[in-house]
Amino acid sequence: MELKDKIQKRQAKVGIIGLGYVGLPLAVEFALHGFNVTGFDVDTWKVGEINGSRSYIGDVKTADVARAVEQQKLRATTDMSKLHDMDAIDICVPTPLRKTRDPDLSYVVQAVEAVKARLRRGQLVILESTTYPGTTDEVVQPALEEGGLKAGTDFHLAFSPERVDPGNVKYSTKTIPKVVGGINRESTDLAADLYGAIIDTVVRVSSTQVAEMVKLLENTFRAVNIGLVNDIALMSHRMNIDVWEVIDAASTKPFGFMPFYPGPGLGGHCIPIDPFYLSWKARQSGFEARFIELAGHVNGSMPAYVVERISEALNTRKKAINGSRIHLLGVAYKKDVSDMRESPALDILELLERRGAQVSYTDPYVPRLQHGITDLRSADESSLNGIDCAVICTNHAAFDYAAMPQRYPLIVDTRNALKGVEAKNIFRL
Ligand SMILES: NC(=O)c1ccc[n+]([C@@H]2O[C@H](COP(=O)([O-])OP(=O)(O)OC[C@H]3O[C@@H](n4cnc5c(N)ncnc54)[C@H](O)[C@@H]3O)[C@@H](O)[C@H]2O)c1
Repeated sequence: MELKDKIQKRQAKVGIIGLGYVGLPLAVEFALHGFNVTGFDVDTWKVGEINGSRSYIGDVKTADVARAVEQQKLRATTDMSKLHDMDAIDICVPTPLRKTRDPDLSYVVQAVEAVKARLRRGQLVILESTTYPGTTDEVVQPALEEGGLKAGTDFHLAFSPERVDPGNVKYSTKTIPKVVGGINRESTDLAADLYGAIIDTVVRVSSTQVAEMVKLLENTFRAVNIGLVNDIALMSHRMNIDVWEVIDAASTKPFGFMPFYPGPGLGGHCIPIDPFYLSWKARQSGFEARFIELAGHVNGSMPAYVVERISEALNTRKKAINGSRIHLLGVAYKKDVSDMRESPALDILELLERRGAQVSYTDPYVPRLQHGITDLRSADESSLNGIDCAVICTNHAAFDYAAMPQRYPLIVDTRNALKGVEAKNIFRL
């Protein structure tokens, strides 16, 4: 049976490589729509959890994993030889930066090597990992073709960026439109058919490079606008203007303005990283991506600015950071998630400890925090004594904000979580 028919009849076997924040929701979505899904991961613990019917990703319900596993529509394995049996393979592995801020494609290369060794005629391979324009046709395609099969004729190849937003209760895998670009028309069509079977809206673009660039534009747009608003926040503080009130009032304009909010710095696996994939690639064409570099500079300096504001707050009580007890409220990189990747709270923690502060934290999503030689447990707020200053780094909904102005002598609020509360001990970003 042709792949197109198999997709239509939901008989196509789908393999997902990398069962993380991106791969697991996708695997479950395919499985719950009747596809036979195999998840491939090098992490034996994750494989065990899935096969034991448990989810380890906040946005994926354990009940859904259990249902998919029970119906024998979903299974996980570390055995890459099973890739040969798949009709469609989605690659969802990490794409971090090296210390030098260059792209680290080693996970993608490793996954592609695993596919190459089992590639067979008629298979559809889709890269979902966020990466620079040109990765699919310059890196993935030649590697897969080393086995002798030709992309576009013997097998199909496409890029489709993932747009999942962890913690977002409004949009899910199914309702976020999916952009698809193949190396030729047939690859685009097959990838669009596959996603069209589980996702409400599929947007076809003319090439893999366009699809790759779409994702980087989206994330650069966020990084640059956050950088702009952080810069406006710094400027407003100097001018004694409440930036939060300014943003709220500007947001009443029904067109031509979109609110972004200042904060302690960027976090997560996307916004602090992806724009540098683009600037790296642009540099190879002799183009300097100035907005990306500038936004990176402003956003990267926010943790140090927060520490400066903590110092200012303590100064009003004739205290120094050195020797003070400073309590961080929320350490995950954003509201209501447990993800600590690139979290600015880690930089704040490090800067404070280096200046001699005694740091503790509370985060209902992060029971233990290990960073360098620091190893802390989330403290119960009601049992805290002698805190000199609390710092709201992440505005989790579970915090008791109303109690904070009485509980802590000083509060540095980096998220405007205490909006509307007027008290002399609150210092807003
Ligand atoms: N997290 C997000 O919100 C998000 C959103 C959109 C796009 N993305 C992009 O999606 C990609 C994946 O991100 P993520 O957040 O899901 O990462 P993740 O770290 O949560 O998951 C990646 C998984 O891949 C596995 N893995 C690594 N190498 C492997 C290999 N060779 N074979 C099999 N499995 C392997 C890891 O064990 C891990 O389980 C990245 O390119 C990221 O930029 C992430």
